[in-house]
Amino acid sequence: MRVHEHPILGQSEPESISIYFDGKPIPAVEGEPIAAALIAAGVRVLRHTEKSGRGRGIFCGIGRCNDCKMIVDGVPNTRTCVTPAHDGMRVETQYGLGRGSCHE
Ligand code: FES
Repeated sequence: MRVHEHPILGQSEPESISIYFDGKPIPAVEGEPIAAALIAAGVRVLRHTEKSGRGRGIFCGIGRCNDCKMIVDGVPNTRTCVTPAHDGMRVETQYGLGRGSCHE
């Protein structure tokens, strides 16, 4: 699910890292959006809504819709489509408004 050779941008040698999704290591590229790494790993549900509990995944991809909110390194409501991945990050599925929220 990754572009390894682009007709305009050419080839690149990205720095491979690991992030942890709900405790499991998944491969990522340093600096790519967390949501991109999750999609490449086959993860589609990033959070569950506070009212119905339905699963949500990436929608706008530009930081506007909040459907990609997850808990990142203990911080709830992090928009993973605009947050760069770094080695060793811990990313958790968010249920409702997330732990530590005043509306939990
Ligand atoms: S997918 Fe819309 S804010 Fe991230």
